[in-house]
Amino acid sequence: MKFTKTLTNWYSTSKRSLPWRQTKNPYYIWLSEIILQQTQIKQGLPYYEAFVNQFPTVFDLANADENDVLKLWQGLGYYSRARNLHYSAKYIANDLKGVFPETYKELLHLKGVGDYTASAIASICYNEPAAVVDGNVYRVLSRYFGISTPINSTKGIKEFKTLAQSLLPKNNIGDYNQAIMEFGAIQCKPANPDCNTCPLNNSCFALAKQQILELPVKLKKTKITKKHFNFLVFLSSDQKTILQQRLGKGIWQNLYQFPLIETEKSITAKTLQNNKVFKTLVNGASYTITLYNSIDIIHKLSHQHLYTKFWIIETNKLPETGISVSQISTYPVPILIGNFIDAYNF
Ligand code: ADE
Repeated sequence: MKFTKTLTNWYSTSKRSLPWRQTKNPYYIWLSEIILQQTQIKQGLPYYEAFVNQFPTVFDLANADENDVLKLWQGLGYYSRARNLHYSAKYIANDLKGVFPETYKELLHLKGVGDYTASAIASICYNEPAAVVDGNVYRVLSRYFGISTPINSTKGIKEFKTLAQSLLPKNNIGDYNQAIMEFGAIQCKPANPDCNTCPLNNSCFALAKQQILELPVKLKKTKITKKHFNFLVFLSSDQKTILQQRLGKGIWQNLYQFPLIETEKSITAKTLQNNKVFKTLVNGASYTITLYNSIDIIHKLSHQHLYTKFWIIETNKLPETGISVSQISTYPVPILIGNFIDAYNF
């Protein structure tokens, strides 16, 4: 098929040289594919290198402390990916004695591995004919073949997977899967695709019909909620502060943060000091309070925008056990807090 052959040829001359393309070791391929979900290659590459250095085998990752795994992941977001990675490493190391599952079906049993990752590992490491469908693949297929079924609808997910599967070559499946993703990332880009130099430009539906920017179609489903976060940055005269671990489900599970008070609206120091949770936290200690950022820091997550204030609370004695500020950078924290810690320079 012309489409498949053209992409494979394009890949052989245009692909970027990346460390996970020099190996078929399933541990490294798995690491790279989990890191690259929801993340661009440029951003993911240093994380991949850090993980491979610190945890060169699945046993090293399995034996690591969860805090160290989360710390290394800090800044990548979607922290459940890191927790699942760690969980599955323990399963592979302990239950499977370090032997990786070798088929698409078996790979799906790993926590955090879905259709995309199982297809990527099965095809790249074991040449199994399993088509990968990520955001890049949706874009390339919908434009080239002129498919306007929404890519985030049940019908669309099925339709694109079936089409992708039918386009697989007989050999070198992993290379072809990477070719179509790479083509989406650097040639058939979302906003400014390079149609002039595209090897498929004489047969592309979207280019012929001037529908490049209309395709792919995505249903708008998620409503963004606005939240107001007030972090209390305690600072005692003996250079200690309070960090608390976020337990329970939800964003940033198991990461650390300064004590947090969430409010309905943006608030003043006076309102904050009248807040019940604040009073309980401060527990009668004497303190001075100042607002670190006069303009809210807006941290955008996929479904929430966090309007954030950092309040500096200087006190002689912390209301609960603290940690030395010199130790603060050893804790895994959300990047919103990591950026504050870097800027504040305790
Ligand atoms: N995006 C995620 N994984 C990729 C891969 N293996 N090749 C190209 N792009 C990718």
